[in-house]
This record gives sequence, structure tokens and C-alpha cells, in this order.
Amino acid sequence: MWYWWVIFVVCGLLLGIFAYDLFQRKHAILRNFPIIGHFRYLLEMIGPELRQYIVTGNDEERPFSRDQRRWVYTTAKQKNSYFGFGSDNEMEQTENYLILKHSAFPLSLPHASEPGYDPNHPIPCAKTLGAKRGRAKAFRPASVVNVSAMSFGSLSGPAVEAINRGCKLAGCLHNTGEGGISSHHLHGGDLIWQIGTGYFGCRDADGKFSLERFKENVARHPIRAIEIKLSQGAKAGVGGIVPGAKVTQEVSQIRGVPVGKDCISPATHSAFDGPDALLDFVEQLAAETGLPVGIKSAVGQMPFWSELTQLMSSTNRAVDFISIDGGEGGSGAAPLAFSDHVGLPFKWGFSRVYRLFAELGLHEDVVFIGAAKLGFPDSAMFAFALGCDMIAVAREPMMAIGCIQAQRCHTGHCPTGVATQNRWLIHGLDPTDKAARMANYVVNLRKEILMLSRTMGVVHPGLVGGDHLEILNGRFGSNTLADLFDYSSGFGLPSVEDQQEITSLMK
Ligand SMILES: Cc1cc2nc3c(=O)[nH]c(=O)nc-3n(C[C@H](O)[C@H](O)[C@H](O)COP(=O)(O)O)c2cc1C
Repeated sequence: MWYWWVIFVVCGLLLGIFAYDLFQRKHAILRNFPIIGHFRYLLEMIGPELRQYIVTGNDEERPFSRDQRRWVYTTAKQKNSYFGFGSDNEMEQTENYLILKHSAFPLSLPHASEPGYDPNHPIPCAKTLGAKRGRAKAFRPASVVNVSAMSFGSLSGPAVEAINRGCKLAGCLHNTGEGGISSHHLHGGDLIWQIGTGYFGCRDADGKFSLERFKENVARHPIRAIEIKLSQGAKAGVGGIVPGAKVTQEVSQIRGVPVGKDCISPATHSAFDGPDALLDFVEQLAAETGLPVGIKSAVGQMPFWSELTQLMSSTNRAVDFISIDGGEGGSGAAPLAFSDHVGLPFKWGFSRVYRLFAELGLHEDVVFIGAAKLGFPDSAMFAFALGCDMIAVAREPMMAIGCIQAQRCHTGHCPTGVATQNRWLIHGLDPTDKAARMANYVVNLRKEILMLSRTMGVVHPGLVGGDHLEILNGRFGSNTLADLFDYSSGFGLPSVEDQQEITSLMK
């Protein structure tokens, strides 16, 4: 009968697609969900049309809007990341609408085949990390865009590997996250080793900090700097959490915790108990290793910061860098009230801390790193103008390697294999292919940051000041960023010597 032939052909086709999906290495979703995974691509293709009539707009969806995600996906795949027909934003009616003020005589970015063109679009940091305190291994970071802390455990092994390989390709730094250093971190990318309250990778049998184990690990790995984590924006005031579903044999070995049980780090450090002891700890780690040492924190109560700055200006001790994370930052798992309501959003928190340093004249001595949804050209410029010397990005590189914002990191069921330890889900993620995407994303972000800086008449984003940006208030009023954040002249910029040096480096 003819219809048996039809059924036979359809089944054969489906089997063929199934086999192809299973063995191809480009799309994690298809490897993990053969055949039905194609529906995602189909829906993605016709999504804009569907949404226009039925569902959400381009600027809806959180944490990242469709426009933002599309920008990351297209830059990561080296596809056309331009948008057509003009802005669909309500510029006049939107509160806090950012305008970057262009120069009448902008500097153009060299195109391919023109002298000075570099396809990697390098932007070195305007400051040398660790220089002020004369650390033996002080260095100038090669990229102002680096990957923020995300642990192995929270992310899968292939995801960490893809990010590390991508960092090597893009010439940027890879922050290990607080979960210790795994074999997945060792694929050529330079590391910032993050030390949280669990001291994973440098803890003794009682879970306390062990200097001996710390030094052993520093000696064995490509570590360029140490970051002591006080808190992160998405869960400030509570320690790290890795749900039991993600604590596999390998994760348990690296962290020294039981398999399958929730791995919860304490809320606070046992190695120090206030700013004074923190500075001693920083100096000890720096003296033992020669590495620059900094802290990462979200911003809440201010006395800690006032005391820290007072101590830094009156004693011969200092942190080399400060990473400020905003309350809108990401996490593998956090209680909702903490994600939504604890810790100031980045612009509030960062500017408060920066002002304290600037008022004491300490801002030029410290490298400031910003994090929380800064991995887009416009938000990055905002951060640089506020005084960031570098930005650290986390969820944006996750999207570059395949994350679809399913928001299931806390369940262990991430469908793309990025934030899970489930073997079936992980097997679809090919670290080599995704490494290239991650590097493309970073390089293209740097390219647009450079384009914007040059549009504003400067050769480096660190030279963009508070008067270059204006914020519209939705009622035909506006303020410069300097006004709005109460920044005096020179705030937000590196020292005059650093400005001269970075200008000549960029040439
Ligand atoms: C899956 C995941 C794991 C994270 N793990 C850590 C961590 O181990 N330590 C830390 O300080 N921050 C951690 N973060 C926070 C990020 O480093 C970053 O500060 C935050 O997500 C803001 O950056 P983003 O908006 O670019 O994602 C994690 C974030 C995510 C999404």
C-alpha cells in the first residue's frame, strides 16, 4: 500500500535527522534533544513576527532583553549584529535614558586593510594592576573586558573549558569563581583565582584557610591575580550555594565536600573579621606570591568602605583592585529576596564606593572592576565613565556559549549543558566550537567599545569622563553623569600619567 511507503520514508527521514543531531557538534540543544530541538530554531526564526503581534517586545524579557540576547548571539557567531530601520526605544518618555555624546570630530576606527587595524581590537587596561604597591608580578591586563567569577560546579566542565579557551583566544582573564581550580580551567587562559568563604582549593581539614595549600596551587597554575570574595550582588550577605544535584564526584573532590549534598559556604570569612584584618590578609597573600590581590563585593552598608579607605590612606597597606558587583548581577542559585532586594544596583553601589576613594585621592591607585549586566557596549561605557578600569562579564559569555536564559541554573537541568552537571545535557556542548564564540563575543564587544570611545573623541574608554554622558529624565530634562553622581573634576579618570601612557599605547 502507498501509505506504508510514506510512513517508511517519514520514519527514515526522522531517523536520519535523529542520527545527524546526535553526532553533530555545533548545537548543544540538538545533541541533547534530537529532532524536537529543531522547533526551537524554527520558533526563534519566526519569533520576532510572532512576538510583534502576540507576545513580548524587543526590550522586554529579563534579565536580558531580546535585543540584548540577539546582540550577544550574533556577535558570538560573527553574524550581522546591526539593527535596521532605526531605534524602537521611547527616548523621550523613558526615565534614565542614556545618551553618549559624540564629538563633532570623531576619531575613526581603522578598517581591515588600513594601517593600525587589529582584528582582535585589543584594549589594554589604563592602569597597571599591582603597580602602586609594587607587587613583584604587577601587570597591565591586556583586555578591559574579562570573564567574571563562575565556578566549576555551578557551570559544567565543558562550559568552563569553553570559557577558558575563549579567554586565551580573546586575550582576556578568566576568573575561576569561588569553587576552586579544576582541570577545565587549564586550557591556556590566564586566571584570576577567586577565594570565597569556603576556601575551596586552599582549605585545611576544618575548612579554614591554609596558606600552604594556597601557595601550592598558586605555584602550579597560571594565576595572574587573587580575588578575595566578600560577596556577590545576587546574594550579598549569604555564602555560595551549589545545589546537591550539581555536586558530582568531580565537584566533591575539587571542593572537598560530600557528593550529592548542597554545598553551602559560610556567609563570612574566618581568615579575617574586618577591614583592618582584611588588609593584613591581602598584604600577606601578596607578599607570599608577588601577585596583585583584590576584593570583590556588592555594596550595602557604607562603614566598611569608609574604614577601608581610611586605613588605606593612613597605613602602608592596600588592595590592588576592587570588583563591585551590582544587585542585578547573576548567580547559579540564590534566594529570591536576596536576588531582588539585597545589595545596591551597580550604578548606585559603584559610584558610592568610588566617590569615597576619589575624595581621599586613592582612586588612581586602585584598579576598579565593574560587574552586573555591563557586557554590552552602551552599559560598558556607562561603567567606564563612572570610573571602572575594566568590566567583568558572566551571563553574557554564558549566552555566547549557548545559554538561552532558561533560568534553570539552580535545578541542574540547564537544557544547553552550560549550567548543569547532568551528563546527558553536558554532552551536547562542544568546548572548542563554543570557545570561538566566546572569543568572538569579547572581541566584538571590545570593537564596539572602541567605536563608541572614538565617537566621543577619545582613543580609550578609560578616557571617557562624566561629562561625555547625559541621562534624560523622561520629562525633557537631563543631567550629565558627573552631575547626577556628584562627581568632581577628574573623578572617573585615571591619573594624568596613566592617561598619557594609555594614549600612546593605543596609538
Ligand atoms: C552561574 C553563575 C555563577 C556565579 N558564580 C560566582 C562565583 O563563584 N563567585 C562570584 O563572586 N560571583 C559569581 N557569579 C556572579 C558573577 O561573577 C557576576 O558578578 C554577576 O553575574 C554579574 O555579571 P553579569 O551581569 O555579567 O552576569 C556567578 C554568576 C552566575 C550567573
